Order: sequence, then C-alpha cells, then structure tokens
Amino acid sequence: MFTVVDLFAGGGGASVGLRHAGLRHVLSVDFWERAVETLIASGFPGYHHDLSKPIPGWLPPVWAVWASPPCQPHSRNGKRLGKEDPRDGYGALFDQIDRIKPRWLMTENTSHLDGTDYWAEVLEKIRARFEFVEAFVLNARDYGVPQDRARLICIAGPRPFEPPKIAWGRLAPSAFLGDGFLRAEQSGATARSTSEVCQTITAARNLYFWKTNPGRRLPRDTCKHPDARILSPYETAWLQGFPLDHPFRGTLGEMQTQVGNACPPPLAYAVARAAMEADGFSW
Ligand SMILES: C[S@@+](CC[C@H](N)C(=O)[O-])C[C@H]1O[C@@H](n2cnc3c(N)ncnc32)[C@H](O)[C@@H]1O
Repeated sequence: MFTVVDLFAGGGGASVGLRHAGLRHVLSVDFWERAVETLIASGFPGYHHDLSKPIPGWLPPVWAVWASPPCQPHSRNGKRLGKEDPRDGYGALFDQIDRIKPRWLMTENTSHLDGTDYWAEVLEKIRARFEFVEAFVLNARDYGVPQDRARLICIAGPRPFEPPKIAWGRLAPSAFLGDGFLRAEQSGATARSTSEVCQTITAARNLYFWKTNPGRRLPRDTCKHPDARILSPYETAWLQGFPLDHPFRGTLGEMQTQVGNACPPPLAYAVARAAMEADGFSW
C-alpha cells in the first residue's frame, strides 16, 4: 500500500497532488487550525499538532513522508535567518523522520534555499538516512501549472529514480480568466498577459486582473480602477493548480494564505509519481 504522512500540510496543496497520484494519507499534520479544517473538509486525516513535538501514539509503517517546512526562514524576501529563525522546520522534520522511518522522503521548499550552506547541511542529514538522494529546482510551469513558481524538491529513498516527468503542455491563465493582464500590487514586476504563465503567487491578497495593460505605474487606488479587479482566493487557487472545488476554510485572507503557501498539486503529483515508479508502480 502506498501510504503517506504529509507534514506541514497547510491547506492541502501537496496533499491533493499526492492523493491524485494514488497515495493514501495516514496523517496530514499542521499546527494552524484553519488549515487543518480545510484538510478535514477535503477528506484528508487532518491533525492539529505542533511538529516540534513528537506525534503521539502509534503510527503504522508508511511508504513516504512528504514535508513542506515553512519557507519564510529561507526566502530572499525575508531576513534569511535559516536555522536561527524560530519558524525553521527542518530540526523538527528530522526528529519526525527518525520516528516514522518512511521508505521515501519528499521535501519541498522555496528555490531560494538552493545553494545555501544550510541546504548543504540538510542534504547531508538526508543522505545519512537514505541511500539515493537527489535535489532539483523544478518550476511549476513545466508541470501544467499556469504560474512561474520555482521550488526546491528533494526525493530520497532506497532505489534509484528518474527525475519527475515534465508535463506535455503548458497551461495559460487565460484558459480560466480570459484575455487580459495580471499584476501584483506593490510589486516592481511588469504586468503579464494572461497568455503567459503568471508571476509567483504569494500569501498576500494583491493580484489584480486588468482588461488593459496597466504598465509599470499602477494608479494610486488600483481597486477602484474601472479596468481592474482583485482576484478572489479561488481564482488564485486555480492559478496554483488546486481543483475549483477545494473546500478552503477561513476568511478570504486566511484562504489566500493557504493558497500562497501551497505546493502546486500537479507538482507534488509529478514528484510522487517519480518515487512510485521507482518502486514498481505503473499506471
Ligand atoms: C509551506 S506551508 C505548507 C504548504 C502545504 N504543504 C501545501 O502544499 O499546501 C508550511 C505550513 O507549515 C505549518 N507549520 C509551521 N510550523 C509548524 C509546526 N511547528 N508544526 C506544524 N505545522 C507547522 C504552517 O502552519 C504552514 O501551513
């Protein structure tokens, strides 16, 4: 049985992709109540727990652990305190892995972590626990997600494996939003046509859809511009690769946080398949 424990599961982006790949969830853990409510509403075994403490009770042997520790300690948009940041999740992750002892480990984080001394340390610890370990920077746009989102993925397990397979086609935001332009408020980036993949979605509710190209200087009150409207968290969820009926719980701001923090489900799907194929699963 291909079973998985999803650690730092958030609103379930990775969980959705893993389920789609054919994995059965044993637990999806997060310490944010709202995210756990979303997980449970989505049919996952959501468990409200602080992962800096051991998961109490007995866990069956699992095929894999998926982990998306918080990216804020490693993001170039923050102070990059790494393990000095109290939000860093890697220490907790290794404690959990040593207890759960999964056959496979798959991790996801911001690509800003790649090339840092901290990531080299993390990789060394993963290599001490698993025979075959590879890390890749993958862009969600190559996996059927209409968004530029580079993620640092690591796969570790007992067998050699092929890198996750790139999807055969690209998806554009226009497929859902129609023709126009997307631009985040408070971003130096220029607007992008909806025929191109959109810029990286964040936890801030600040992405606008424009009928006309707004150029580099946004009007002072973008919200009131007749050509602009703010995207709803459901629209940004679609741009993140979530199914339209994903039952997010919470306020609009809390929904946007769950969307902005997520691993795009199609990316998690491709990563899980790479490990599953190495273990003889065929579709
Ligand atoms: C990058 S987000 C996870 C995104 C998720 N994998 C997805 O694809 O939707 C990190 C999550 O870790 C949770 N978290 C951070 N520290 C935690 C801890 N000590 N214990 C449990 N959850 C934690 C946060 O609440 C947040 O939802």
